[in-house]
Amino acid sequence: MDIARLIYNSRSLEHCDTREINKILECSERLNASCGVTGILYFSNNNFLQYLEGEEADVARTYERITQDNRHTDIQLVDKSTIQNRQFSDWAMAYVPESDKIAPILEKHMDGKAFNPQAMSTPSTLELIFELRTLLPKAHYDTQNQ
Ligand SMILES: Cc1cc2nc3c(=O)[nH]c(=O)nc-3n(C[C@H](O)[C@H](O)[C@H](O)COP(=O)(O)O)c2cc1C
Repeated sequence: MDIARLIYNSRSLEHCDTREINKILECSERLNASCGVTGILYFSNNNFLQYLEGEEADVARTYERITQDNRHTDIQLVDKSTIQNRQFSDWAMAYVPESDKIAPILEKHMDGKAFNPQAMSTPSTLELIFELRTLLPKAHYDTQNQ
């Protein structure tokens, strides 16, 4: 079955600390698990980058809710396409916290500048997402089994 993939970036409106990120993740995990949406969220330098995948209508509904959220602005759709297989099937919403391991990855994509997903090409954004995926710990649960 075809899977819809949607990638966007946005700028945080509030100061987003770990507590706020955790709130976003808790809500995302709960709602995504209930409709089978999976993906990854990255936050750095006040910018969000999010990858969503699932059934087209579920991804569209989720994105619609996300775009209404006043915690972020300047929402820019990067990619909306159809894929054969999920890439984050174990993650209702994966999150990669800042660490030394991310620095060389960002350095490569941002040419040493601070993270700015709006300035990245779609292929570079996708590459970054898959590089972030390699940093994920072993899956803690599988939405397919819920
Ligand atoms: C950067 C960001 C990413 C989010 N990701 C998701 C997500 O993956 N799934 C989700 O259901 N809600 C996500 N949310 C939360 C939604 O914007 C919204 O608050 C939530 O879906 C509840 O929607 P409701 O208030 O219309 O019921 C995200 C919010 C932000 C700011």
